[in-house]
Amino acid sequence: MSKAIVIYETRTGNTQIIAKAIQGGMKEAGVEVLSKRIAETTADDLADVDAVVLGAPTYNHDLFSPMKTFLFKMEKQDLKGKIGAAFGSYGWSGESVQMMSDTMKHIFGMKVMEPGLKLVGRPSGSSLEQGKEFGREIAERIEEYKK
Ligand SMILES: Cc1cc2nc3c(=O)[nH]c(=O)nc-3n(C[C@H](O)[C@H](O)[C@H](O)COP(=O)(O)O)c2cc1C
Repeated sequence: MSKAIVIYETRTGNTQIIAKAIQGGMKEAGVEVLSKRIAETTADDLADVDAVVLGAPTYNHDLFSPMKTFLFKMEKQDLKGKIGAAFGSYGWSGESVQMMSDTMKHIFGMKVMEPGLKLVGRPSGSSLEQGKEFGREIAERIEEYKK
């Protein structure tokens, strides 16, 4: 069975809602997937997964700072060749998603799904469905990669 982890941080809960939707879509597609906030995440969580999915909102045109710090911690892990994907809630510009994708691609050498998933504000209805769909797409990518 394919394994993945969704690691996210949020200030007002919007990115957490996306994280749960993505996790739901991946589970439906048969992936064993946990979702954790940064504080709950350990190095072991990254060790034996096929895919790492990162989520964080944009504040002041920047990546939410707990995720910035976490990316420096991730640098110590060998993630080369794993599938990566990024998502986040935003208000009007949403730079965080591209920043996480770029780091996974250029620094960690991961195979990154682009574009990542950017959703405005607090997701509900069709945007929740977009989250699930993104999860299913990540699951498909893992399967393709394993062939
Ligand atoms: C002080 C402040 C600064 C913000 N700066 C940006 C920004 O530069 N670009 C943007 O797209 N959204 C910005 N936002 C909107 C947040 O990204 C948005 O509220 C998002 O849904 C928060 O996600 P969270 O609930 O996961 O923390 C800002 C919000 C606040 C309160």
